[in-house]
Amino acid sequence: MKPQIILGIETSCDETAASVVRNGQEILSHVVASSVDIHEQYGGVFPELACRRHMEVILPVVQKALVMPVDAIAVTKGPGLIGALLIGVQFAKGLSIAWDLPLIGVNHVEAHLYAAFMDKDPKSWQFPSLGVVVSGGHTFLVKINAIGSYELLATTIDDAIGEAFDKVATLIGLSYPGGPKLEILAREGDPKKFPFQAGKVKKDPLNFSFSGLKTAFLYALKGQEIDLQMKKDLAASFQEVAFQDVVHKALLASKTFDCQAIYLGGGVSCNVRLQEIFKEKFHHLPVHFPSSLLSSDNAAMIAGLGYHQLLYKEKDSLSLAVETRIPLQ
Ligand code: KG4
Ligand code: ZN
Repeated sequence: MKPQIILGIETSCDETAASVVRNGQEILSHVVASSVDIHEQYGGVFPELACRRHMEVILPVVQKALVMPVDAIAVTKGPGLIGALLIGVQFAKGLSIAWDLPLIGVNHVEAHLYAAFMDKDPKSWQFPSLGVVVSGGHTFLVKINAIGSYELLATTIDDAIGEAFDKVATLIGLSYPGGPKLEILAREGDPKKFPFQAGKVKKDPLNFSFSGLKTAFLYALKGQEIDLQMKKDLAASFQEVAFQDVVHKALLASKTFDCQAIYLGGGVSCNVRLQEIFKEKFHHLPVHFPSSLLSSDNAAMIAGLGYHQLLYKEKDSLSLAVETRIPLQ
């Protein structure tokens, strides 16, 4: 088969991104325009303002990424903010009609996992493996049977881990997104200073809950004189407990099947302490992270996964709908 060159488009949240990828792996262009500067002052993503920025920049972003003619168009169909998703999907539909090219709707979260496979030789991919998604919108564990075939093992019953990082970060005066800033503070903090505990979900011990940990963080601040060292200790203690919880549950989940490797994805997966903990606790299995270019929201992962869908799944049509919540299937 001739090489397949795919244009990916991503607009699910606060990044407008486009990328051209050959055969699901070779990144030929990679353009990301973030609207984080607008949201900083609000402590989280302001959907209406994210949409307005998508509208302004989608055309120049796609034009910049289009370094050569393409064979198909892949676009994030969900999960995400409804207005933001609609802008990318409608734009992709327009291009698909104008150029008479196949349209591929991609699940954003599945693409986050694919990012950890993307820069590795497909012959080295190992299945079944454990997928660990740690992002601003999602936290879950899945058994990966193959690219495109998943079984959900655990999810969060309240906040996603990135969301919890961002929320506690605002409590100590860090602007959105607080996750990366919290990681920097945590480097000089004492992770044992505050005896936080991870959330337990009685009915399903593999599931996550971060709301109690967030509340404990809030109470630790009450009536205290908060200096820089205290912020560092809070950041380190919170981060350590959250990550030890994720790795502990990932270990338990990996024992429920013949797990060959671990693949992580999502914005939080670039955290150096998280990577250390996973490598330490999973010394018996290969652990793969996305490259730093591919851990946060981008369109290369959308184009990359879109290639596999083009080969193995039915094509989407112009009736492709956005979905704010979609399971992995
Ligand atoms: O995957 P992503 O770009 O967006 C979603 O699909 O949700 O993840 C963004 C999230 C934000 O919550 C951000 O604070 C968090 O990832 N994040 C981090 C780090 N870098 C990004 N959290 C902890 N440590 C980091 N280094
Ligand atoms: Zn994402």
